[in-house]
Parts: sequence; structure tokens; C-alpha cells
Amino acid sequence: AGAWAVVPAAGRGTRFGGELPKQYLTINGKPLIEHALRALLSHPGVAGAVVALAPDDTHWPGWTEVEGKPVIRCVGGTERADSVLAALHALSDDAHDDTLVLVHDAARPNLWHRDITRLLDSAGDNDGAILAAPVRDTLKRAGDGGRIECTESRERLWRALTPQAFRRCALRDALEHAARDGIAVTDEAMAMERTGARPRLVEGREDNLKVTTPADLALAEFLLARRVH
Ligand code: CTP
Ligand code: MG
Repeated sequence: AGAWAVVPAAGRGTRFGGELPKQYLTINGKPLIEHALRALLSHPGVAGAVVALAPDDTHWPGWTEVEGKPVIRCVGGTERADSVLAALHALSDDAHDDTLVLVHDAARPNLWHRDITRLLDSAGDNDGAILAAPVRDTLKRAGDGGRIECTESRERLWRALTPQAFRRCALRDALEHAARDGIAVTDEAMAMERTGARPRLVEGREDNLKVTTPADLALAEFLLARRVH
């Protein structure tokens, strides 16, 4: 049995602005969410996908299959973690308790098979694994009055990317735990870390960017145009 992709796509894209939620903006005539789904489902190790959509979403094309593999939809929640949890519940317990799930942002259109393969190869144990990239910038901590308080070392600091891969039941329990404790987790690994798990960092491509602002969309357009299929 292959891994299942979980694609949270219930966000409103407030930082991007505009009418259309950013996951439906198109590059080469395809919405960002389609680029994300095709990248995941065309990989031989991925068996299907669950997408979490906003309750009032009118833009989802209604796909039940992409790249010849099943796509299930569910209603997402207020926060990204709520959407991911809803998607995990949409996978049936009996068939998918131990399934590896790859949680991947709908707004990340430039994912490569090699990174999925490397992630799947590392995610087998119970702690899971995430794609990540080393921090390249010099980091400043702000003090009072907009002045620098100090320079932080970037040694051993990584930017968390997606996909993030975990056993479905372990991730579900961790996200439910965080919700019960009222902790807002900003990625799946953070929920797992709170349970004592130590997910593995898998160095991924730096150009697996999340479209957050219009400048990111222009960059993603450039990056996707350079891909040969
Ligand atoms: N997401 C989700 N459910 C939410 C919030 C976010 O499924 N309640 C999804 C988004 O659709 C996106 C991914 O999580 O694919 C990453 O979130 P982010 O980049 O923050 O997207 P938005 O929340 O839509 O953007 P913003 O924070 O600017 O409003
Ligand atoms: Mg958001």
C-alpha cells in the first residue's frame, strides 16, 4: 500500500490578497493546487490524495481522480492544523490506520519526485520526516525601538518545507492532542515534537517554495517554466 497525500487547501490567502484564494491562481493554465496534486500523484509511491477545502469553496473543479489515482475531498477548518486533521479523518480507519501520509501545501507547486522519494525513504519509522532547507540568511533579533538586539547563529537552523510525512494515526493523535491543549501548531512536525517524537530533517530543494505573496507567484512561474516534463 502506498502513501497518501494530504493537501490542505482551505486557506483564504489573506497575505496574497485578491478575490481568488491563491491555491486557484493559475500557472501555465493550471491552478497551483493542480501542480501540487500532479507532482504528488504522479509519484509511484503515492496511492491517492485527500484535499481539505473551505466550506464555501466554489472553485474546486470536483476531481475524483488525478494522474489516474483517487482524490477524496473533505471540509477543512479554521486553522491549517484543523484542515489537516479533517483530512486525516476522511481516510477510513480500517484501511489507513498505519498509512504514511504526506502533508503538502496546496500553494507549493514546485515539488520534485526526487524529494518525495528521499522523504519516503526516511519516513518509515514512527517519528516521521520532513523536507527542510538550511537557513541562509543572517538572522537578527529585534530589541526595543526597532534596533538590533543581537545576531542569532543560523547554525543548525532549518526552514520547514512540505511534504511532511508521518504515520496517519500518530499524526492524528498528535494534532488532536495539540488542539486539546490549545496549542496552535504551524506545521505537522511541531505537533509530533510535542509528543516526544524526533522527526528527521531531509534536505529538500530550496525552490520548493510556498506561494504567499504576488512576488512568490512570479518566482513560481519562472521556476515551473524551466521544468521539462
Ligand atoms: N490552509 C488550510 N486551512 C486553513 C488555512 C490554511 O487548508 N484554515 C492551507 C492553505 O490553503 C495553504 C496551506 O494551508 O495551502 C498553507 O497555508 P498558508 O500559506 O498560510 O495559506 P493561507 O492561510 O491561505 O494564506 P494566509 O495565511 O496569507 O491567509
Ligand atoms: Mg495561513
